[in-house]
Amino acid sequence: MSNFVRIKSKINKFNKNLSIDGDKSLSIRWALLSSQSLKKCKSSNLLLSEDVYSALNCLKKLGVKIRISKKFCEIIGLGLNGFKYKDNSTLDAGNSGTLGRLILGLLVHSKKKIKLKGDKSLSKRDFLRVIKPLERFGAKFKSNFGKLPIKIQGTNYSKPIRYYENKGSAQCKSAVMFAALNTEVETIIKAKKSRDHSELLFKYLKLPIKVIKKKRYDIIKVKGKHKIPALNYKIPSDISSAAFFIVLTALSKNSKLRIKDVNINPSRMGVFYILKLMGIKISKINIRSYKGEKIADLVIKSTNKIKPINCPISLNSSAIDEFLLIFLVAAKAKGISYFKNLSELNQKESPRLKWGSKILNKIGIKNIITKSSIKIYGNPNLKINKKIIIKNFFKDHRVFMTSVIAALSLGGEWQIFDKKSINTSFPSFLKKIDQLGANIE
Ligand code: S3P
Repeated sequence: MSNFVRIKSKINKFNKNLSIDGDKSLSIRWALLSSQSLKKCKSSNLLLSEDVYSALNCLKKLGVKIRISKKFCEIIGLGLNGFKYKDNSTLDAGNSGTLGRLILGLLVHSKKKIKLKGDKSLSKRDFLRVIKPLERFGAKFKSNFGKLPIKIQGTNYSKPIRYYENKGSAQCKSAVMFAALNTEVETIIKAKKSRDHSELLFKYLKLPIKVIKKKRYDIIKVKGKHKIPALNYKIPSDISSAAFFIVLTALSKNSKLRIKDVNINPSRMGVFYILKLMGIKISKINIRSYKGEKIADLVIKSTNKIKPINCPISLNSSAIDEFLLIFLVAAKAKGISYFKNLSELNQKESPRLKWGSKILNKIGIKNIITKSSIKIYGNPNLKINKKIIIKNFFKDHRVFMTSVIAALSLGGEWQIFDKKSINTSFPSFLKKIDQLGANIE
């Protein structure tokens, strides 16, 4: 089977219902938290992607019992600080920054030495951002200049730490919260706004957590050494995966889509609000609550008048994984769009601000980038009549999927490499595209 797709025509109009794979952030958090419980924890709709398998394999290596069937995943954890592994074992976080960073939090109090490694892309990413706060708990880290592989030697005693998370990174915040689970004294975090799944799961499990919400940041206080009850959870669909289909529908002609059971946690809804500001016809219906999270069906309609945006920086963190798609929408807007304070985008699986700009260059859309911003000169009459090849993007799943959406909604003749990258976060992506009737070779 080839590792590229060829797309030679736009998608025909569609009017469909679609379901999307489970949320990646919640799937990984469910697995890691369940490993800290002594009870049997069961999940359904767990995202069975490479990132989540990496999490399950790491936990197995740490002695955790896991059973996976088609419909369910069961974990019988080892309780707080209960991991059982051989001295100098190695864990492989694969491509997953979320797993790599969060699991370090759980290892801060483990006594035996352990090594964490990852794939080529993860080994390029910054881990100093979690090593620095986690060292303050007393654990010792040896890293490759702040990158993987990392050796960890946990600590026996609990130091009280106060940590200021100033990047708006949920991974950094959550790594410290996970370390706090095993710390007797109170851990206090002042965190710039970012996705709050860990806080909501801690609250749902009735762990001693206090969250004080301020305008620009939250104060989070966690007391550890509290037994973790069974975590039975149906993982809602991932808004970050749904976003590909939201944009495909918005940019296609005379189409309509309903996406069911999507997690609409406000700290993830930036893409929804940004697209609404740009005039995209999108609404949420059938809103309900589920174990601290919010779920809804999303209804999207094709939109032919797209407005440019001066994107409010307050929406950056809640749309952090969706900017490649948002840039594509800006390419079709009538006027100049401006996105700023986005240096974190270059910390992802690939330098995404650069890749956003590269894709725009390839489709003939003028754009100007700096280290942290991009100006996009939209063209509502954009027509692509040339051959476009997308490759060498560090196998970044979101670059691959965004390129497929660009090809299907804007036209041109595309060859997009590294098809297997979808297995990281959204293994059924191409099947869903097929369900909508697209013609992909
Ligand atoms: C995630 C947080 C975000 C996001 C990533 C998943 C999480 O990363 O980009 O895909 O599950 O906590 P940062 O915390 O580095 O912003």
